[in-house]
Amino acid sequence: MSFVFPTEESIPPEYRISPIHQKTYLLGGEIREWNGETQMVQSPIFLNRNGKLEPVILGSYPSFDTAQSLEALEAAVTAYNHGTGVWPTSTPKERILAVNHFVSLMKEKRNQIILLLMWEIGKTEKDATKEFDRTIEYLEDTIASLLELESNSSKYISESGLIAQIKRSPYGVVLCMGPFNYPLNETFCTLIPAILMGNTVVFKPAKYGVLLLEPLLECFQKAFPPGVINTVYGDGAKVISPIMESGKIDVFAFIGSSHTANLITKKHPKLNRLRSVLGLNAKNPAIILPDTDLKSMVPEIVSGSLSYNGQRCTALKILFVHKDILDEFTKLYLEEFSKWKSGMPWEPGVHLTPLPEEGKTKWLKVLLDDAIANGAKILNPGGGEITESFMFPAILSPVSPKARLYHEEQFGPLVPIVPYSNIEEPLEYIIKSNMGQQASVFGEDPNVVGKLIDTLVNQVARVNWNAQCQRGPDVFPFSGRKDSADGTLSVSDALRVFSLRTVVSFKDTEKGRNLLGDVLKTKSSRYLSEEFHL
Ligand code: G3H
Repeated sequence: MSFVFPTEESIPPEYRISPIHQKTYLLGGEIREWNGETQMVQSPIFLNRNGKLEPVILGSYPSFDTAQSLEALEAAVTAYNHGTGVWPTSTPKERILAVNHFVSLMKEKRNQIILLLMWEIGKTEKDATKEFDRTIEYLEDTIASLLELESNSSKYISESGLIAQIKRSPYGVVLCMGPFNYPLNETFCTLIPAILMGNTVVFKPAKYGVLLLEPLLECFQKAFPPGVINTVYGDGAKVISPIMESGKIDVFAFIGSSHTANLITKKHPKLNRLRSVLGLNAKNPAIILPDTDLKSMVPEIVSGSLSYNGQRCTALKILFVHKDILDEFTKLYLEEFSKWKSGMPWEPGVHLTPLPEEGKTKWLKVLLDDAIANGAKILNPGGGEITESFMFPAILSPVSPKARLYHEEQFGPLVPIVPYSNIEEPLEYIIKSNMGQQASVFGEDPNVVGKLIDTLVNQVARVNWNAQCQRGPDVFPFSGRKDSADGTLSVSDALRVFSLRTVVSFKDTEKGRNLLGDVLKTKSSRYLSEEFHL
């Protein structure tokens, strides 16, 4: 059962990697040289060197201090220039052309970024490829969505003696921070819509998955005017606190823990100025009803709980299984799980890989031991075994409400099973939970499931019937209640959260109409439009 890290020689040549020592950052349209302190990047992948496991050093990146991060902020503030900068006053058509340019440059970096996703965060080749391709698709769909939005809002409305055009304007300067589990996709799902709507951005990559963004610096530089995007790196307390304390951030776009989001948000001196777009903690439950078609549903539940080692905000993080089917369910779950292969991200058919977060396996072990001390048993052989950054998944039952794993988000390969006899038990859990992102219900009886759906839609933001929880497809709204999110993201919603509906209105008189005609004829306003054409 013990996990085997490879020797250097056994890695196929196309998956080998040379260290990247990033000595550059993007500020005010320049790719600047960095000569200050750096942060070392260690891969979750270890190498077997003469029988000894040694971590792979992937390179390093700049570690900013307060002065550097404030310089990046000033570059974004200057580019926005109180809404009078080149970017916020550009037309949607001009912004779309720039983003299109960026997407075409980004496509050239596909292989490099996929390889870095594998080495930096241990994502399998299949999932890393999916993350890259899904991001490109998301950006292309976002452009299409903006075209539609603009064409709908280019009409003039006549109401109560007034004529108005209602379009969307940017908010200002956005601080954008993404998560390590989707360092490209989730980050770009806020970063690019924010830019597309005319905002300028200070962008801090997640703690892990930083180097994979380095190849994109020159793409940003080539595609956007100076200062539209500025990068910062390093310790949050040094880098993010002063930016927030300045009071110059208009939108905080953050995917991560609610604890960190609260710490950062509180630093803003003018809370009513600050808009927040947050994707936070989740502990999505699956309710497995007694009449579930287990044979066809168990593979879905295994995938929902363990894909990318359970490191998805949408993962099924607690399984409520009806007592009448508990034995059959666990038997099938273990059978399906036994097909899941552990290994290196580049190995064909691999599912389970090392974890990128420093100290994560130790922390998971604490949760695991606590669940066992509170009556749970590990159902699978080798469950919970640790080899450096790798933890073999532990499937645990029965997990008691006294265990930390019952309440806390594990974000890793621990699968807690909670047997129940009365549906009120999982419902009470969901109602009392601080989190409220999604839930999955597995069962066949439309009467039972229909009633459950009615209860759950007022507890979470998405109810999945006979399906695992997930964000996609990206046209669906992605949100959460309670401590799980603030704001809604999707291809079309993201454009809305980064912009304000803004009205230009005038009296509906002959004089008013003539004056509008003159403005449109002379094109003296870039904002007012007759019709939207590209
Ligand atoms: O980590 C949270 C992601 O948004 C989950 O997305 O459900 O497509 O894996 P996914």
